[in-house]
Amino acid sequence: ATTTVFDIVLFGGCGDLSLRKLMPALYRGYAEGSFDSNSRIIPTCRDAETAAGYAEILAKSLQQFLSSDEYDSAVADSFMQLVMPCALDITTVDERWKSLHKLFSKDAEQSRIFYMAVPPAIFGITCENLSQQKMINGQSRIVVEKPIGYDGVTASAINDEIARYFDEKSIFRIDHYLGKETVQNLMALRFTNVIFEQLWDAKSIDHVQISISETVGLEGRAGFYDNAGALRDMVQNHLLQLLCLVAMESPNKLDANSIRAEKLKVLEALRPLTGADVDDYTVRGQYVAGEFNGDLVPGYLEELGKPSSNTETFVAIKAHIDNWRWSKVPFYLSTGKRMKARSAKIVIQFKEVSHRVYDGSVGQMTPNQLIIKLQPGESIQLSLMTKDLTCLETKLKPVSLNLNFSDTYDNFKSDAYKRLILDVAANNPALFIHRDEVDCAWRWIDPIIEQWQQSAHTPDLYRAGSWGPSAAKTLIEQDDRYWFNG
Ligand code: BG6
Repeated sequence: ATTTVFDIVLFGGCGDLSLRKLMPALYRGYAEGSFDSNSRIIPTCRDAETAAGYAEILAKSLQQFLSSDEYDSAVADSFMQLVMPCALDITTVDERWKSLHKLFSKDAEQSRIFYMAVPPAIFGITCENLSQQKMINGQSRIVVEKPIGYDGVTASAINDEIARYFDEKSIFRIDHYLGKETVQNLMALRFTNVIFEQLWDAKSIDHVQISISETVGLEGRAGFYDNAGALRDMVQNHLLQLLCLVAMESPNKLDANSIRAEKLKVLEALRPLTGADVDDYTVRGQYVAGEFNGDLVPGYLEELGKPSSNTETFVAIKAHIDNWRWSKVPFYLSTGKRMKARSAKIVIQFKEVSHRVYDGSVGQMTPNQLIIKLQPGESIQLSLMTKDLTCLETKLKPVSLNLNFSDTYDNFKSDAYKRLILDVAANNPALFIHRDEVDCAWRWIDPIIEQWQQSAHTPDLYRAGSWGPSAAKTLIEQDDRYWFNG
């Protein structure tokens, strides 16, 4: 690994994202020697007392969020030497900005990363203050979290505000799914294996499923989540990015511009869902109390502490990409909280062979299926039809070629945030989202939300610990296709 040096300011340094994801990611980067001890990590906290007690808070959270084989108290101690908390109300200009300025490296050209782990509503004012305080040097980059905005209009406003202070090439819009090694592997798989390259289109593929199921509920983010819902929180970004990687043409080169241009073409080709199509091709759900692993878990409204809410915690969508490669191939997307199992996967369902040599008496033909499990249990499975070798007469049997990444790679561990922060430090934007992608994704999402708001429908209820509402099953089964759960 190459070693780099940078100053990183975590605005919202005491928040959940910083303590749960960003600090452990930085610790991992430091522990493996990816950046050196001239780097500075500057979490800002609004409250002076919290800033004063930050070392203690951080020590506890590192122990909590790093696994026991990662956590080493000596490494943690030296990592904490780089952490320089700063008390700052980022919306107000006062003396405290000066103390932030003093924390930067004396080298005026050292990379400065401003990580916005704060609500989007204050991105603009933060940038303005950074600029007024002359903190943006020639090597400054800003990292912004998804979802950007609440819809296309608010996303544009936020992007415009940031653009006043930072060039597009210094804006790193993060989608941590793109930092997952298994997600990047999608491109390697598609573009380095002729067996897939040749079959990756409407001639051979019947449909694609992309699903991310979570077992967690609100995780203390009720305020944010109830305003957002699963469509904005997961589909607008993570699911559409996965769809882009599955569906895009091969980029001419592996640089950021070429990859982003191909992803954008997919987003532009998404068939818009409007009006009655939204009712026919989308399902939204909300969990009610149910059983998970033998325990009774509360429903969404109980977790939220509100008598009613129309926010969806589950979405399923049947989408189409109107281009040459994917004509008439449905992409079924689904995501939900409090589901039966945690799993993120892509299923490529191939078509049947064009002519059946074997008749039905030798067993059912099961068309090939490629299952790419992104997490947990990262693996690739390819189902093939074979002759059952255990019996004399001819019987066919589907078997699975199974590539399990933890068997193939020792110490396979992926930390998306670590990887992405190091990419920001190295000024490599290939795994970050261009403004045009954000706009285009919202253009597809906005009419769905509009229709949901207009229709009298409320979300379909599903039990926590299940695979979602029955309407999601119907959405795919009415096409004689089935969700691959598990
Ligand atoms: C985040 C969403 O972007 O992704 C969360 O805001 C969700 O609601 C999380 O839980 C899922 O990420 P992962 O990496 O745990 O699959």
